[in-house]
Amino acid sequence: MKLIITPDAASATHVAAHLLADTIRQRPDAVLGLATGRTMEGVYAALADIHRAEALSFSGIASFNLDEYVGLPPSDPRSYRHYMQTHLFDHVDADERHIHVPNGIAADLKTECAAYEAAIRTHGGISLQLLGIGDTGHIGFNEPPSPFDTRTRVVELDAATRQQNAEMFGGDPDAVPSEAITMGVGTILDAKRLLMVATGPAKADIVAAALEGPITPDVSASAIRLHGDVVVVLDEASAGALS
Ligand code: F6R
Repeated sequence: MKLIITPDAASATHVAAHLLADTIRQRPDAVLGLATGRTMEGVYAALADIHRAEALSFSGIASFNLDEYVGLPPSDPRSYRHYMQTHLFDHVDADERHIHVPNGIAADLKTECAAYEAAIRTHGGISLQLLGIGDTGHIGFNEPPSPFDTRTRVVELDAATRQQNAEMFGGDPDAVPSEAITMGVGTILDAKRLLMVATGPAKADIVAAALEGPITPDVSASAIRLHGDVVVVLDEASAGALS
C-alpha cells in the first residue's frame, strides 16, 4: 500500500485528481470506478480543472459508480446519478452512453444488481476504483459487517450513515433512503487499482481502524489491505490517529 499524506484537504483531493488523470492519460479507454460524497467534490472539481487546463479528454473512458440510493430517480438532485452530473460530467467530455450508476428505481433490483456486475465484466473490469470512507468504515455502502466476497446488492443503510448523509435531505436522517444498491467488497477488490481518499479530523479514528486495526468485515475499508495495488491519500487531519 502506498500512503500519501498531504498538508490539507485541498492538496489531498488535488493529488487524487492527478492520479486519476494519469490513469486516463495512460489508458484513454480506462474504466473508472467512481464514488460520491463530500470528499469527492474536491477531487471532481480538480479533475474538471485538469480537463480544461491540460485538455485531458474523458471521451474514451467508461465509468461505474459505487452506489445509489434505492427509490431516487436519476433526476432527483439528491441521487448519486445527479451528483455525478453536476460535480463531474457537466464539466468534462465523457460519453453519456458509457456512464454507469446503479438504477435505484429499477423494477427488479436484484436483476439490476446482477446486470451491473455483468456490465463491469463486459467492460473488462475496473482499471482504477476511487473510494471514500464512511463513518461506519464503509466503502461504497458496504455497511458492517460486509463479507469480503460480497457483490453488487441491495443493502440497508446504517443509522450512522443516514446521519452522515442527512444534509442533502434537509438535515433529517429519517428522510435519507433506508436502502441503497452498492458494489460489494468483492466487486471493489476486483478492480485493478484502488485509490482511497479521506480528509478532515472526523475521519481520523476510522482511517486508523481501517489501515492499522484488524482486517475484518466489521470495518469494510480494512479489506483494501488485501489488495496488491492500493494508493491511500490522506490529509494530515485524517491521518492524525495513525501510529
Ligand atoms: C459514496 C460512497 C461512500 C462515501 C463515504 C464518504 O459513493 O461510496 O462510501 O465515499 O461515505 O463520504 P464523504 O466523503 O461524504 O465523507
